[in-house]
Order: sequence, then structure tokens, then C-alpha cells
Amino acid sequence: MYAQMVKSTGHGVKSRAEMSAEEAHFQDRIDAGEKIEPKDWMPDGYRATLIRQIAQHAHSEVVGQLPEGNWVTRAPTLERKAILLAKVQDEAGHGLYLYCAAETLGVSRDELTDALLDGSMKYSSIFNYPTLTWADIGAVGWLVDGAAIMNQVPLQRTSFGPYSRAMIRICKEESFHQRQGFDIMMKMAQGTEAQRRMAQDALNRFWYPSLMMFGPSDKDSVHSAQSVAWKIKINTNDELRQKFVDQTVPQAAYLGLSIPDPELELNDDTGHYDFSEPDWSEFFAVLKGNGPCNTDRMDARQKAWDDGAWVRDGLMAHAEKRNARTAAE
Ligand code: 3HC
Repeated sequence: MYAQMVKSTGHGVKSRAEMSAEEAHFQDRIDAGEKIEPKDWMPDGYRATLIRQIAQHAHSEVVGQLPEGNWVTRAPTLERKAILLAKVQDEAGHGLYLYCAAETLGVSRDELTDALLDGSMKYSSIFNYPTLTWADIGAVGWLVDGAAIMNQVPLQRTSFGPYSRAMIRICKEESFHQRQGFDIMMKMAQGTEAQRRMAQDALNRFWYPSLMMFGPSDKDSVHSAQSVAWKIKINTNDELRQKFVDQTVPQAAYLGLSIPDPELELNDDTGHYDFSEPDWSEFFAVLKGNGPCNTDRMDARQKAWDDGAWVRDGLMAHAEKRNARTAAE
């Protein structure tokens, strides 16, 4: 079902004259800031775009646990281990809220997981980069969760009710994720010279992949125009990327670390930082599966799915038996 629906997306924004009466009424509701609920009429393209974006968001939350989970047994103190465990558990919950929101659109979690495992759906490119040192865990919290917050706060106002409500809950927890990451970076940046170098190395490696989290530049964004028209997205990719850079540069200065971009400069005319674009050929190569950790991440997701089959089968057998008993009563 999902595969057929995707065909109805990416055809550009219809003018009012091209809209049917139902589509025009739907757009009036969107323009009036109304929330669209699962049982409301919606264009197939709206439904398919939401399934694609919410499911990829959910897949990202679940896969995003892998790079951090790698450090739970290596955390430098019991306190840091407890904080990291709490964060990783939060991410699992974020994935569940988002899969539940996607299911209200008529797809099953199994279907979405199949789409991830067969490659027809993706997760955020950032999670295909390795976490090589403890400072990376700081950079992930500070930069990756920082970018996620920048993207997710506006999504609290997205037009689809279940997605908007999931975002409100998720954003409350994301701020803790970003703060704990920044706290690690502070400890490292103000620690020994070796720790400071480790923090700088982590910033060097995570800076551009974090900028890529906001998606390709607006001119290359396939879905943005329609997603903004339907208020699935509140801001464009470039708007959010710029906000992230403007917020993060002073934070790096506070840490005494330097952003790995010789072109970075505060533009007195715009009040924003001018910065170098990421290497978009690297971005699209990672999306095609050629990032440093794509294979590891997909193998881990496939193994988790396979290892969990007995639990799913047992629960289904129990549910069928119970339903048969209820039907016989
Ligand atoms: N990683 C992987 N794929 C990406 C991507 C990224 N960083 N950015 C864009 N893409 C893909 C899109 O999915 C689309 O491909 P598709 O048609 O096959 O789905 C293509 O690149 C073109 O990009 P568009 O800008 O046209 O696509 P969107 O309008 O969907 O914009 C987005 C991309 C900004 C990521 C948008 O989907 C979005 O806002 N998603 C919700 C937020 C989200 O998913 N965040 C992911 C991180 S979650 C996270 O970090 C968890 C935290 O707890 C750590």
C-alpha cells in the first residue's frame, strides 16, 4: 500500500485553479491552521508524504540509538552511563510515538520496518557516521540533538494532529539530550589538552554531517514546496540550517573550539553567519548506502528484527487464542 501511495507525491504544488473542490476545502483548512486528524479527508499525496516523513523520522530515532549504544559500556563514569542509558531509552520511546502516529495513516509498523529493511525507506544520514571517542557522544548530543531540536520544535505546529502531538512530547526530552551532550563537550574542552583535542576532533567530524540533517538545499529539495504548502513542514531546509548555524557558532566559541569552516563569518548586513555548504556529493553517497556505517546499521536493524520474531509470534498466538476464546463466549 505504501509503495503505491508514494507515487502520488513529488508532483509539485497545485494552483487553486487545478484543485478539486475537496482539495480546495482541505487547503482552506490547512491555511486556517486547523489540525487534520486521521479520519478526516486528505489528499493521497498528503497521506503519503506524512507516512514517508514520519516513518523516516521514527526509523531515525531507532537507528540513532546504535551509535550511542556503542558507548554505554564504555562511559567514563557511572553517572555518564546512567545519563546515556536514559537518553538511548528516550530515543526508543520517540520511535514508538512516531510509529504510532504513522499507523493512524493506515500503514502497519511491520510494513514500515519492511520498507526500512528493504531500503525503500531511509533514516537520517547522520547515523551512518561512527562514534569513535567519548567526545563524539558529546558532539552527538550537542550537534545532532541540537539540529534535531531545531527541526522538531517547528514540527510541533505541523498540520497533522498525531504528528504534532508526538512532537510536543519528544521536544521536552530532546532539550535534556542536547544539554547533556553540551555538558560532555564542556568537560572535555575545559579538561586536559588531550581531552580538548578530542573534543575539537569530534566537532571537526560531526559539523558537516549535522548540517546535512536539515536535508538538501532548498533548490534541490524534492518535497519542501508541497510540504510547506500543506504545513507538514513549517520551515524550509535552508531556513532551519541557518538558524542552527547562528545558534551553534557562539556555543563553539564558548567551548573554545573552532568550527571547521574557514568561510564562516558573521554577515553584518544580514546578521546571520555566512558558512560553507556541506559536500552534497557525500550526502547523496551516504543516502545511497555508501556511508562509513550504513552496512553495520542495517545489519544491526535486520538482526534485531530477526531476533525479535519469536516475541512477535508469541504475542500474535496469544492474541489469536484470546480472540478465539472471546468469540466462543
Ligand atoms: N538523511 C536521510 N535522508 C534525507 C535527509 C537526511 N538527513 N535529508 C533529506 N533526505 C531525503 C528525503 O527523505 C528525500 O528522499 P525521499 O524522497 O526518498 O524520502 C530527499 O532526501 C529529498 O529531501 P527533501 O528535503 O525533499 O525531503 P523532506 O522534505 O522530507 O526534508 C527532512 C527532509 C528535513 C529530514 C524532513 O523529512 C524532516 O523534517 N523530517 C522530520 C525530522 C527528522 O526526520 N529528523 C531526522 C533526525 S531524528 C533525530 O535526529 C533523533 C534525535 O533524537 C537524535
